[in-house]
Amino acid sequence: MTRVDVRGLRKTFGDHVALDGIDLTIADGEQVAVLGPSGSGKSTLLRVIAGLEDQESGSVLFDDVAQEGVPPHRRDSAIVFQHFALYPHLTALENITLGLRHGLGLGKAEADARAHDIAERMRVQDLLGRKPKAMSGGQRQRIALARALARRSGIVLLDEPLSGLDAQLHAVLRLEIASLLRGVGATGINVTHDQLDAMAMADRIAVINHGRLEQVGTPDELYAAPATTFVAGFIGTPPMNLFPAAPDGATALGTVRADPVTALVLGVRPEHLALHADGAPWHLTGRVAMVEPTGQDRVVQIVLDDGTTAAFRTPITMTPALGSSVRVGAASHHVHVYRDGVRVGDMSDVAHGVLRADPAGVAA
Ligand SMILES: Nc1ncnc2c1ncn2[C@@H]1O[C@H](COP(=O)(O)OP(=O)(O)OP(=O)(O)O)[C@@H](O)[C@H]1O
Ligand SMILES: [Mg+2]
Repeated sequence: MTRVDVRGLRKTFGDHVALDGIDLTIADGEQVAVLGPSGSGKSTLLRVIAGLEDQESGSVLFDDVAQEGVPPHRRDSAIVFQHFALYPHLTALENITLGLRHGLGLGKAEADARAHDIAERMRVQDLLGRKPKAMSGGQRQRIALARALARRSGIVLLDEPLSGLDAQLHAVLRLEIASLLRGVGATGINVTHDQLDAMAMADRIAVINHGRLEQVGTPDELYAAPATTFVAGFIGTPPMNLFPAAPDGATALGTVRADPVTALVLGVRPEHLALHADGAPWHLTGRVAMVEPTGQDRVVQIVLDDGTTAAFRTPITMTPALGSSVRVGAASHHVHVYRDGVRVGDMSDVAHGVLRADPAGVAA
């Protein structure tokens, strides 16, 4: 088990800033998911932690020991690449033991024993004698994972280890990997652009965008109070509806008074907007443009007067007709307030005067 400290990490490729000052501490044995869109710097972060890329500035520490100058194979980390490759001419067993023998210098007997141990835990014993071409994509992925885990490193770095798998195998494997990493007590950093993977596997999620961390927190924290409009628009399916305030304070949900209002955005999750909520303080009116069945409920897309769209969830029995006009309402504590893209509270805070204490002065 190893604690990882990432401090002020910056990495550029020519003019492009891939990592723009990343600070992140991952506790011994903790599972952290790094979640972000394509090109946000996820793989770069993992590669710098693994020692495969040098940072421009900042540092990476494993248990308080700076890793600058420590080559990848001497670091207490194992990485599974986004585009992993097994040696095609070697069996699964040989693929797993190769690094143990040459990288870690283990003898054949011990390397074989470790390979069989991890293969048993991952239930791939039957594949050990096969070469990669005789395995399915999911089986190859498991062997690649087994190869990384067999090193028994304190830190396991996974770069989209589940991409390309069918949905069912994907859902099974993400739980297996998470419980395996917890079982061996490894500190796990798991890169993904899939929020469901991140939620299912991680103790905490670090959301990255344009090389910067937008928010680090438990899945519940990120969902309940997204710290930025980026996180609000990224977490949740469909994500939070966001409504910028006009200069006079008008938003699609109602009017806010604040100074200045133009930097304000109100947000409400689709599941917090309800039909027949006439007593609710915040309302949205629009025409039903699309009804999407999810199995358990319906996601309804409406078009507002200004042409923008919003989504709400509703029980199947209350599904409105396409083209009909609907009014949905939200409670104050479900209306998030963002200023300059950063969350300052929700509308019940405003009502209770909390936000009024803010120097820029938001008032309901
Ligand atoms: N070796 C490199 N040379 C130049 N630019 C690079 C290099 N590696 C990455 N980049 C750039 O740095 C940025 C971050 O890349 P990175 O691979 O970390 O993204 P990512 O979040 O892993 O994306 P994806 O989800 O597509 O894998 C991208 O804009 C990418 O084009
Ligand atoms: Mg990547």
